[in-house]
Amino acid sequence: MQEKGCLTPRLHSALTEEGRREEDNRGAQKKKEGKTREMEDSKAHGSESMPGDLSEALKEATKEVHEQAESTEFMKNFQKGQVSLREFKMVMASLYYIYSALEEEIEHNKDHPAFTAVYFPSELHRNAALQQDLEYFYGPSWREEISCPEATQKYVDRLHYVGQHEPELLVAHAYTRYLGDLSGGQVLKKIAQKVLHLPSTGEGLEFFTFEGVSSATKFKQLYRSRMNSIEMDPTMKKRVLEEAKRAFLLNIQVFEELQKLVSQPHENSHPAAQQKPELRTRGTSRTHEHGPVPVKEGEKTSLTHTGMLPSTPLVRWILAFSFLVTTVAVGLFAM
Ligand code: HEM
Repeated sequence: MQEKGCLTPRLHSALTEEGRREEDNRGAQKKKEGKTREMEDSKAHGSESMPGDLSEALKEATKEVHEQAESTEFMKNFQKGQVSLREFKMVMASLYYIYSALEEEIEHNKDHPAFTAVYFPSELHRNAALQQDLEYFYGPSWREEISCPEATQKYVDRLHYVGQHEPELLVAHAYTRYLGDLSGGQVLKKIAQKVLHLPSTGEGLEFFTFEGVSSATKFKQLYRSRMNSIEMDPTMKKRVLEEAKRAFLLNIQVFEELQKLVSQPHENSHPAAQQKPELRTRGTSRTHEHGPVPVKEGEKTSLTHTGMLPSTPLVRWILAFSFLVTTVAVGLFAM
């Protein structure tokens, strides 16, 4: 494991002033070339207009599905700080299956011309981090404790299919997950840490911690310029954009299914959420060692959580009012 904030030699050279200039020049040149090629190709094929750079095209093409992903019930609740330990553990288990498949296929295709420019294993790969988090939450036998829900399996199957049959589309999946983790993922990390009372030392949140990336913004710039350097004709680019949208939809389905599973009574939910009694408070008891407030399994916490008091002002008002009326009534009766 690397020191915190320490860059790998590959990334370090890429992010030095010279490296950055080189990437920028390469990006600008590619942009120019890309645009000319794009114009020629679109004239020749009558294709729809799309930004020349793959990075810009991806951002534009996935804008709508990104909004959709952000506004799934699961994500909306998460952003409000309404996430239970049980939900968090389930999502981490699903992410483990997803990243195992993604990174297995990335390893198989690391020298493929359509992928090699964005191969950043030590900076990005999440599989090892997820294993650490799962051990923290489920204990040493975490592999037997978790299982793969249907929508997660569908995502996993697609990743293997792409890796084995259409490796030129793999960049769409890497983009969707890693750039997302370096963006909104960092917001979710802070929320999870706060509402689940996870230790500030980082246990349980390794997934969100990119030790080989000292600046997420700079790294994302580098990643975008590397994506733009991948040789791609307009037909292929269109397929990559479609695959990125598909990747977002697969993520949305994972969240929707998790939301459905947590809405079911505990017994009927999938095994990842069911735990042996001795493990039920595992994450919380360890967490408790580092923080003052234990969170009960399955209990939704919110950023406005106030201990024993009901959290809604209306309910508090009604209780105070009832108390007042009762006191006056008792007083009157006593007279
Ligand atoms: C609560 C949920 C989410 C929030 C608050 C959120 C927030 C953001 C923000 C603020 C950015 C812009 C960062 C920047 O421009 O540097 C971003 C970018 C991105 N997000 Fe999300 N996001 C969420 C969910 C997701 C999900 C579920 C995915 C996909 C699995 C995703 C994938 C991405 C990607 C790929 C980018 C990079 C866009 C680009 O620059 O091309 N996000 N997100």
